[in-house]
Amino acid sequence: MEDGETVTGGLTTVVRIGGTIRRPTGAWTPAVHALLGHLERAGFNGAPRPRGIDEHGREVLTFLPGEAAMRPWPAVLVSGDGLRQLGRWLRRYHDAIADFVPPAGARWIVPDSVWQPGQVIRHGDLGPWNSVWRGDDLTGFIDWDFAEPGEALADVAQLAWNAVPLRGPGMTLAAGLAEDCDLRARLSTLCKAYGSAPPAVVDALERLMTREISRLQVYGAAGIEPWSSFRKRGDEGTVGQELGWLTANRSVLVLRD
Ligand SMILES: Nc1ncnc2c1ncn2[C@@H]1O[C@H](COP(=O)(O)OP(=O)(O)O)[C@@H](O)[C@H]1O
Ligand SMILES: [Mg+2]
Repeated sequence: MEDGETVTGGLTTVVRIGGTIRRPTGAWTPAVHALLGHLERAGFNGAPRPRGIDEHGREVLTFLPGEAAMRPWPAVLVSGDGLRQLGRWLRRYHDAIADFVPPAGARWIVPDSVWQPGQVIRHGDLGPWNSVWRGDDLTGFIDWDFAEPGEALADVAQLAWNAVPLRGPGMTLAAGLAEDCDLRARLSTLCKAYGSAPPAVVDALERLMTREISRLQVYGAAGIEPWSSFRKRGDEGTVGQELGWLTANRSVLVLRD
């Protein structure tokens, strides 16, 4: 992304100004900035740093050098090396936020969500589309609007869902992987790099998908964004199919060596 360039992603129109990105804000922006500020103070360099609000009311974030990985994926993500880097990034992220307590009254994008001791603040939208790569090196994750309290394992599960990927043959091909690629080995690579066991991650992914379907139904029906738009675009059916595929393929995916 060049200086002065405007990009419209899935939801947001952002503009780069020098070494910063300007994005629209929401009720969750103060909580997200508290999180990103904590990461900065912890010396964690795999996320943008918060630089306040500009004269147009946009949030100001530091620019992460590199390109977001869209489909078809860059070679590094097709190889196991990208999964190893993603798993190590998530481990470093969870280590950096282990002692983060959100400000009292913090609001997140998910309505009524309140942090409880023992939970982490999840990134919430961990997919290749929000990972930034400079050549073959992961710089970090952008787009923290979906951050929310939750279980750490749900972050690993979401990465597995989107980056192994565990979404069925159509998405495997669209990513640029061979239809018969070894998804079990890819899941194992990611889990090993993070430090968790594939069966627990698949369990967490089934929970995450089930909860996502219920959010699409409840928030979608109530007209709450972005779930209302996601539901109109057909996400309830898509996630339902992906959950069906995961359950049907579970025994293959978590087979032990
Ligand atoms: N901090 C950042 N550093 C580098 N690029 C960014 C940053 N934030 C956004 N971008 C660029 O803008 C695009 C859209 O931004 P993003 O925050 O992901 O919005 P959306 O909600 O639309 O996905 C990204 O794909 C990326 O190219
Ligand atoms: Mg994004």
